Amino acid sequence: MNEQKVLLEIENLRKYFPVKGEKLFQKKYVQAVESVSFSIFRGETLGLVGESGCGKTTLGRTIIRLYEPTSGRIVYDGTPIYDSEQKISVDMLPYRRKMQIIFQDPSASLDPRMTVGEIVGEALDIHKLCTNKTERRERINTLLDEVGLNTEHANRFPHEFSGGQQQRVGIARALAVEPEFIVCDEPISALDVSIQSQVVNMLEDLQVEKHLTYLFIAHDISVVRHISNRIGVMYLGQMVELAESYELCSHPVHPYTQSLLSAVPIPDPDVTRARQRILLEGDIPSPLNPPTGCRFHTRCPYATERCRQEQPKLKEQSPGHFAACHLLDG
Ligand SMILES: Nc1ncnc2c1ncn2[C@@H]1O[C@H](COP(=O)(O)OP(=O)(O)O)[C@@H](O)[C@H]1O
Ligand code: SF4
Ligand SMILES: [Mg+2]
Repeated sequence: MNEQKVLLEIENLRKYFPVKGEKLFQKKYVQAVESVSFSIFRGETLGLVGESGCGKTTLGRTIIRLYEPTSGRIVYDGTPIYDSEQKISVDMLPYRRKMQIIFQDPSASLDPRMTVGEIVGEALDIHKLCTNKTERRERINTLLDEVGLNTEHANRFPHEFSGGQQQRVGIARALAVEPEFIVCDEPISALDVSIQSQVVNMLEDLQVEKHLTYLFIAHDISVVRHISNRIGVMYLGQMVELAESYELCSHPVHPYTQSLLSAVPIPDPDVTRARQRILLEGDIPSPLNPPTGCRFHTRCPYATERCRQEQPKLKEQSPGHFAACHLLDG
């Protein structure tokens, strides 16, 4: 990428969910996203990976303010849209148009009582993007065409479609408002393997045509390694490593990323490192009661006393390559 203009800046973003404790009136918090900081460049695809439950969906939804953040700061194209310290929380309507999401489960995200035309048209209505019915109908038809559906589909209901077609409707709905940034939250993981690559290719083509920026979430690094410019790795609510896609896959420096990658077969002949499968012991701890110090210490083969006490910060280890691990302090 030639141009490295920051579109989104995320600083110390937190999202906690209050839940009931075991005792009466006791409140506890699921620390789903804990102090995450990174930037997203205009026009890039930033892949976001990590095991199920590590906070990917929560982070994606909190960035676009579908979830109200607990604290931190979000700057969109130079304008702070959320800042818990300065108490900035702007009217989100114009930003809702710029930032959209494609959900993981297309059938659950489409209202079964609405036709496909109504689902796509609703987004146009909320933002008052069409002045009359003809323009609205034409716009809906164009959008359906852009995602590989046709005009007759507008009068049908979501249950009449396959999973892949439903996801195309979800993509048309996201595109309707001409967004700049889209959170693609595991958009293919609920689809048949046979059509996953069609949908990914379509998203890639649409990105080029419409100059879109993607945060592309996947639980499996092999899904995003080819389509992402950069990849961020999350563990238990935190970003542990972030680098250019090739760099991250060929020279992972964080023990957790190394273990994730050791489980992925790499057909790339350039990646000729002698790779050993690193098996992690134990389950992911609960974000209700995360480990002290480095959140990964309970499963890390290199953990020391310092790791149990002190949280490592995400630091730039080499140009553009960030990681949070005490081992790397030398
Ligand atoms: N609405 C919610 N209320 C309480 N806990 C939640 C809620 N949404 C997600 N969580 C919890 O937050 C953590 C992160 O979840 P999520 O962001 O869905 O992870 P991922 O997308 O990586 O699988 C999980 O422990 C999950 O159970
Ligand atoms: S800080 Fe310690 S526990 Fe955490 S990843 Fe690095 S070596 Fe492992
Ligand atoms: Mg998720």
